[in-house]
Amino acid sequence: MGKYLIALIIGIILVPTAFYLYLRSGDVPVATSASPLPFERFFAKLAMHATMAHQLPKTDAGPPTETDLVSGAQIYRQNCAVCHGLPNKPPTIIAKGMYPHPPQFFHSRPIPSYDSNRPYRPASRKVYWKVKNGVRLTGMPGFKGSFTEQQLWQVSQFLSNARNLPAAAAAAVEGKPQEAQQRATVSRSRQTMPSNHK
Ligand code: HEC
Repeated sequence: MGKYLIALIIGIILVPTAFYLYLRSGDVPVATSASPLPFERFFAKLAMHATMAHQLPKTDAGPPTETDLVSGAQIYRQNCAVCHGLPNKPPTIIAKGMYPHPPQFFHSRPIPSYDSNRPYRPASRKVYWKVKNGVRLTGMPGFKGSFTEQQLWQVSQFLSNARNLPAAAAAAVEGKPQEAQQRATVSRSRQTMPSNHK
C-alpha cells in the first residue's frame, strides 16, 4: 500500500512540478524556427482530430460548378496564397518564417493538366472545417466571420479540385483575370454537374 501511495504522490506532485520547472527553464522552444516541444505535435493532432470528428458538417455541399471553382480560385489567391503558395511560385518569405510551416498546396509546381472527363469532386469536409474554424496556435486563420457559407464551400471546393482545375480557374488563381473570363465564356457550353448548396 505504502509503495502505491508514494507512486501516487510522485505522479501528482513531481511530474507537474518537473513540467512547470521545464517551462520556466528558459530552454523551451518558442521561436517559430525552434524544434517542436516534446509531444506538442502528438497532443495537438489528438485534440484536433477529436474535435473535428465531432463537428464535421453532415453534407459536403455536392460537386462544384466551374463558376464555384473560379470564385474559389479568386478567394484563394486573395486570402490564402500568401501562406499556402501559388503554382510555379516558391513559398513566400511569410510562409518560410512560420511554425508550423503552412502546407504548400501547389508545391511550387505548375497546375496539372486538366482532364475534362473527370467529374469535379465535392469539397473535403475536413478542409471546409479548417477554413471555417482555423487551427489554433498555428497561424491558420478561421474565416467564419468573414466569408459567406457559399464562399467557405467554394474555396474548399477549389482546394479539393486543385489537381484537376478547369482553365478558367487555373487562370484565376494565377492572376490572369481576363484570360479567366474568356475561357469561362468559351467553356460555358461544357456540362458541369449541378451544385446543391445555393
Ligand atoms: C497566415 C497564414 C495562413 C493563411 C493566410 C491561411 N492559412 Fe491555411 N494554414 C496555415 C497553417 C500554418 C496551416 C497548418 C496548420 C496545422 O499545422 O495544423 C494551415 C492549414 C490549412 C489547411 C489544412 C491542411 C492540411 O493538410 O490539413 C487548409 C485546408 C488550409 N490551411 C486552407 C486555407 C485556406 C483556404 C485559406 C484562405 C481562405 C488559408 N488556409 C489561409 C496558415 C495560413
